Amino acid sequence: MGFVNRDIVSIKDFKKEELEHIFKTAEKMEKDGYDSTLLRGRKVGLLFYEPSTRTRMSFDAAAHALGAETIWFAGVEGTSVMKGETLKDTIETVANYVDLIVMRHPFDGSARWAADVTTNRTKRGHKKVPIINGGDGKNEHPTQTMLDLYSIRKTQGRIDGLEIAMVGDLKYGRTVHSLSYALSMYDCKLKYVAPDSLQIPEHIETFLNRNHIQFTKHSKIEDIISSADIIYMTRIQKERFPDENEYNKVKGIFKINRALLSRAKPTARLMHPLPRVDEISVDADEDLRAYYFEQAGNGVPVRAALLSLVMGAIE
Ligand code: CP
Repeated sequence: MGFVNRDIVSIKDFKKEELEHIFKTAEKMEKDGYDSTLLRGRKVGLLFYEPSTRTRMSFDAAAHALGAETIWFAGVEGTSVMKGETLKDTIETVANYVDLIVMRHPFDGSARWAADVTTNRTKRGHKKVPIINGGDGKNEHPTQTMLDLYSIRKTQGRIDGLEIAMVGDLKYGRTVHSLSYALSMYDCKLKYVAPDSLQIPEHIETFLNRNHIQFTKHSKIEDIISSADIIYMTRIQKERFPDENEYNKVKGIFKINRALLSRAKPTARLMHPLPRVDEISVDADEDLRAYYFEQAGNGVPVRAALLSLVMGAIE
């Protein structure tokens, strides 16, 4: 399938059958358990320039479950980034220590840049160190999308034919960008629920139109709550607003509580990449349709499958 040493930068770089292969591999690992010798002797670098709980820890858990070691930083405090080290120099350096790098960085396009740095190293006789994008600015979060699709497939038995509503900060939320690109490979009806100032970016609308994907835009959760198969909530990304006044105009705009969730189909699932702030009330956690914590749990088998495939331990 061509996974070995591949950079995982954008979900747009994947074909549907490749995603299905990752899901089947993850499903098998989840069912049969993890082979703790599969990645023995391998080292994974976790370079997190921005905060993370799920992405960093699930990659860490996946790597350890397969017998790999991890070396990491979480936040640039304490690293030489504080002394002005460039991203290129950090990647050039860490590539000497590890076999694969997972990176989260605040700049759009930084994962592609890092991938180019390790590809250029191969021209100097070094082995390729693949880069996995753990979130680059407001651009993409491809491995989140892989676990999101895995979660949809696991709960609904399929992805094709579903109505999927994405709610909240669709402008700055990288997870909904990658998810939109990925769902364009499936036969789904997409509904985007956001205030005008946070609607899905024009370049993604253009992408969807070019690929003949049905989508509609809404301003109220009530428009989608009873028909959606997946309600994908997102946090308003305060840290990405250039102007705090603009954030204050939209903060707390959408909230799902247990009463509102009770109007969803019994088979529907409420998802969220997490962390949540106040967009899902804690009382909704007890509803069987609330799936966000299980969704986060699915990060381990999906990322274990991906590490194994990219490091060439399985086909
Ligand atoms: N979903 C997600 O990326 O969560 P973290 O920011 O905690 O990694």
